This record gives sequence, C-alpha cells and structure tokens, in this order.
Amino acid sequence: MTERAITWTDDAGRDGRGAVRILDQTVLPATTDYLDVDTVDALVEAIVALAVRGAPALGVAGAMGVVVAMDQAEREGWDEARLQSEIDRIRHARPTAVNLAWGVDQVRPLVGDGRAAVLEAARALAADDEAANRELSRLAADWLLARIDRPTLRVLTHCNAGLLATSGWGTALGVVRELHARGRVEFVYADETRPLLQGARLTAWELAADGIPHAVQVDSAASSTIMRGLVDCAIVGADRITANGDVANKVGTLGVALACQAAGVPLLVAAPWSTVDLSMADGSGIEIEERPGAEVTSFGGVQTVPDGSQGFNPAFDVTPARFVAAVATERGVVEPAAGERLDQA
Ligand code: MRU
Repeated sequence: MTERAITWTDDAGRDGRGAVRILDQTVLPATTDYLDVDTVDALVEAIVALAVRGAPALGVAGAMGVVVAMDQAEREGWDEARLQSEIDRIRHARPTAVNLAWGVDQVRPLVGDGRAAVLEAARALAADDEAANRELSRLAADWLLARIDRPTLRVLTHCNAGLLATSGWGTALGVVRELHARGRVEFVYADETRPLLQGARLTAWELAADGIPHAVQVDSAASSTIMRGLVDCAIVGADRITANGDVANKVGTLGVALACQAAGVPLLVAAPWSTVDLSMADGSGIEIEERPGAEVTSFGGVQTVPDGSQGFNPAFDVTPARFVAAVATERGVVEPAAGERLDQA
C-alpha cells in the first residue's frame, strides 16, 4: 500500500505556506478523501474526530501541528503567549497516546530557530517512525517464529495498528506484513473494534489491499477464538507503555490479553520507542480518554438504546505487564511477563 495517513504538503494551505495532509479515516473504506489542515482548530478537530489517529500518527500530527500553529501565528499576528497556548491545545487534544505530546515536545524547542527548522524536524520524526516500525516488525517476527513451531501463523489483532496509525508500514500490522512477506501468515482475525470500527474499516482495508487472508469478528468473539485454539498469537499496538511493561491500548485489548493468558498464547505488543513512557512507573496513572456516550448508543447513525439510556465509552484500557509476553520496539524485544522492564532495555 502506498497511502500515507499524514504528510506535510508544501503546495497546499492558504497563502501556499503548506498544510498537513491527512487521509480522513472517518470515511474509510467507502471514501478516500484527504484533508489539508492549516489551522490549529482544524487540526484539533481532526484529532478529536479520529480523522488522524493511532499513537505514532498522532506523534507526527503533534510535530507538524507546531508548524501549523507557527504559520497561523504569522498570518494572524499572534504574540508568543498565544502561540504557546495554541501549541498546548494540540498537545492535549487526546490524552492517552503519549506520542501526541511527545511529537509536540520533540520540535517545540526549535520554534525560536524558525519555521524551516521545525518543519525539517517534524519531517524527520515522520521518517524515523516508519524506519522504527520496519525494524521492530523484523525483531517481532523473529521473536514469534523462534517460539511458535508452525510453518504459518494464525494471528489475532485488535483495533488498527497499521500504516494508517503510523507514518508508514505499521506496528502490529507491520509485524503481520513482515510475517506475510516471509510467507509465514496463515490467517488473521481482526476484531471489529466497537464503537468506531477501526478493525472492520481500517485493518480489514489494509489486509485486503495486501492480499492477506483474514476475517473480521465482533470484539466479543475474540476470547472464544483464542480459547478454541484458533490463533497462535495476538499482536496489538500500544498508546503508552510504562516502565514496568503495562500497556494502554484500545479498549478490549485487556480482554484479549486475559484470554491469551488463559490459553497460553503469547500477546505481543508492537510499538516504536516513542510510545514508551519511562516517566510512568506503571499504568495506574495513565489517563484513559472517555469519548461521547453517543458513539456507543447508536450504530450507523441510528439510536440502538431506549431513550434515557446513557453510553459509557472509555476508549482505552490498561493491560498489566504480567499478561504481556513481549513488547517489540526498534530497540529490541522485552518480555514483561517474565519480569523484564522497559527501563532496563
Ligand atoms: O482511538 P484510536 O483509533 O486512536 O486507538 C488506536 C489504538 O488503540 C492503536 O492500537 C494504538 O494507537 C497503536 S497504533 C500503531
């Protein structure tokens, strides 16, 4: 696949200054549409609506967002305080994925050096993300194939941790791509990922485009699929990984992890090092984004609950380190369930 979730485009935006080009994931797979974003409001809106989503892609959005804010400051005559508060708005648009704040923080110190320096750093950050994903995919595939004695693997994945969630290649789906390139994928079960269907709409789209055999299942089928012995491993991405190996990821990941533990199937978490937050000792302090209840109480725009019923919509959960067989980053593979720590990697 050649699509990119997020890039900087020079020949777009007002005054031809350039814009962040976002592949609008709210309308995939039915429609392939790009948003050229050149204001902080539009970027925050795109992040909150999940037009751009997935931890590593949010890191790129954060870094490129600083350029957007600088351009808008120039256009509208903002003072330094206003510029910094608008950059903060981008930094805090979603709380759980550490990459968004990390992406902002990587380039923000360069604001004083001028726009070109910030843009160059943001572009480098995006390129580094894809390189990291390719490397961690190789390491993760080696780890899995050394432990699972089958010619081809049956994999379960949850949410979308593919190229759409990154600047390229993908993390969990990057591992699947790497295994597929080695001829070692038998089948992928993709959880549909209620309520916004990142698995059904996005992961299936990527798997279909790459010709990887797969089926989409409802999230509530996952534990049974694992316990029935239909999969050899589960591979997921992450939004934040703490020093001890606790993993925040899309809600439902914890259920997958518990079933893997019960079935003796390894859960492998694939993420670039930018998703590792060593400032947190464990996952107890991770802020879990709560999204509008209306995303749960309707389906396809039609209300599915009685009038008066509320929706409860935590977007992420935290899987304790003891259920995480492996965390693969570009720096290597750590085994939290065996007592290994990220801060000793
Ligand atoms: O709400 P989303 O779609 O941004 O959630 C995304 C996930 O939970 C992904 O698994 C995670 O960000 C890793 S993406 C490589």
